[in-house]
Amino acid sequence: MQNNFLKESSYSINKAVKILNDGGMVALKTETVYGIACDANNIFSIEKVYNLKKRPLFNPLIIHVNDLEMAKKIAVFDELSKKIANYFWPGPLTLILPRKKNILIEDFAVAGLETVALRIPNSVVFQKVLKKFKKPIAAPSANPSGYISSTNAKHVFDSFGRKIELIIDSGKSNFGLESTILNLSKKKLSITRQGIISSDEIKKIVRRKIEISDNSKIKKPISPGQIKRHYAPNTPLKMNVKSPKKGDALLFFGNNHNYKFNPSLNLSKKGDLYEAAQNLFDYLRKLDKLKMKRIAVTPIPLKGIGKTINERLIRASANG
Ligand code: TXA
Ligand code: MG
Repeated sequence: MQNNFLKESSYSINKAVKILNDGGMVALKTETVYGIACDANNIFSIEKVYNLKKRPLFNPLIIHVNDLEMAKKIAVFDELSKKIANYFWPGPLTLILPRKKNILIEDFAVAGLETVALRIPNSVVFQKVLKKFKKPIAAPSANPSGYISSTNAKHVFDSFGRKIELIIDSGKSNFGLESTILNLSKKKLSITRQGIISSDEIKKIVRRKIEISDNSKIKKPISPGQIKRHYAPNTPLKMNVKSPKKGDALLFFGNNHNYKFNPSLNLSKKGDLYEAAQNLFDYLRKLDKLKMKRIAVTPIPLKGIGKTINERLIRASANG
């Protein structure tokens, strides 16, 4: 096997920590998607990540920490943000908070902003690395900027090969979609990226109104997270297709279809939206590799996590 591709073990975890300390990059599983981890306090390693992903420099990275104690050194927490963090962390929720002046993370990692996006991931391998590294880790999703995210280690290798010092294979990401991003840095609470945790789940805890930022309404995007096209295969993608045609690669959902279409993949035979979310990026990458004329996706129910799946598909099918 490739010499930068190792199964999760105490050996690979120790190696990851050494690479991070030496300013290198390591691909690690999180419960959402795979991330490219680097030392958040080393401008050279941060620069490597931006270059590798071809990510615009104005797009800040999410800072991953091990516990609330480390988080509080980086960001200002009020009662509400403490309550939310205590309830949802570790887990697939990223909080945007006012940033504290600190020596733990470089300005470069957060694009010089006065806010910082923080999360404690609930993934064993990531937690073990954080515990041994003892410092915050900046980690964007492990995909070339704008392309489909990686939900297993092979995806990361397909996208970057040996350009990453180490890829740790810990199997599939549990959820398969990125964390929800909740902006707590303004008076009005807003979700700036839909994800695994829904606004209703958060509302139950905060008992306040939460806006969902509609990316299509933002005229001048402040970050590519707000640019329409994202998560996109190279093959043009069309949503809500009911009758696929010749030249299509079909992506469908549930057992209520009788597609004998070739090529095709079913996101979840039993019609489970969580299973569909976990398979989404993997299947999009698989169908993209076939280099057909179009990837046609049948309607996906707009409920629960299906809303996030639809949001990703809207972005994947957008122009420019
Ligand atoms: O699930 C996840 O969040 C994964 C795993 C690896 O943790 N990470 C991830 O990172 O999705 P990335 O870089 O692909 O997406 C981070 C998003 C970007 O849209 C970025 O613009 C936004 O977070 N972001 C980061 N810091 C921000 C800030 N201070 N204010 C507003 N948006 C911010
Ligand atoms: Mg990403």
